[in-house]
Amino acid sequence: MHQDFMPPGIVVLTGAGISKESGIDTFRDKDGLWTRVNVEDVATIEAWRRDKKRVLDFYNDTRKSLRAAHILPNAAHKALAKLEQKYDGEVTVVTQNIDPLHEMAGSKRVLHMHGRDGEIRCMNCGTVTASDEDLTPQSICSHCKAVGDLRPNIVWFGEMPQHMDEIDEVLDRCGLFLAIGTSGEVYPAAGYVLQVRRHNPRAHTVELNLEPTGNTNLFREHIYGPATLTVPPFVDRVLAYGWK
Ligand code: APR
Repeated sequence: MHQDFMPPGIVVLTGAGISKESGIDTFRDKDGLWTRVNVEDVATIEAWRRDKKRVLDFYNDTRKSLRAAHILPNAAHKALAKLEQKYDGEVTVVTQNIDPLHEMAGSKRVLHMHGRDGEIRCMNCGTVTASDEDLTPQSICSHCKAVGDLRPNIVWFGEMPQHMDEIDEVLDRCGLFLAIGTSGEVYPAAGYVLQVRRHNPRAHTVELNLEPTGNTNLFREHIYGPATLTVPPFVDRVLAYGWK
């Protein structure tokens, strides 16, 4: 009996390293954001409760720097968009980045597990809205009218990442898992390579990073170098020959 053949899915986990060559700093490299700013001061719910102005100002500034005219998708973002367009099966980008560079490059299936720039959430009624306005401790929710309960819709330390169910589903049906430009320090993303291998021991797993990461041993293949130089030829290889 004939059955339609659907090639195995591809999941691409991306981190700050893929956007570094677009001009956005990473978090843990020697010039990374967390070497200059304390996580506990800006990226926890406790920080927001303690000093809303400080946290909101930080994210207002972040949004402006991400929107600068020179911040554009690079060759690695574009190669992943091409992979999605040309591969016969499903390609999903699971990104920890809040920047819109995957979408700007043309990727359609993008899950922002740590939230995305340009969205705000009301802590009183839970409504998420698209907004590019600066937030202040006096900002009013357009839905429930609460004052001072608006925050960026970004996942802070200690909070549940977004799209978890969808991510579990795509991980469970993938045959190729790539991790690009992520240090493997932050869970649950750092655990995805193991999740893929447990569910599908034959899945191929590839780390593409500037240097070996903390969980490098969990990957079957390693490609080191700047993402703009490593990702485009890797994508061409997969499109031409697959990964067996
Ligand atoms: N090409 C490829 N990899 C690069 C490049 C580059 N041009 N530049 C840096 N890298 C690598 C670094 O070697 C490092 O391993 O990218 C990785 C970036 O790691 P982190 O700064 O830890 O960023 P990320 O893994 O995305 O952090 C995860 O931590 O604070 C949070 O919420 C934040 O989403 C973020 C999460």
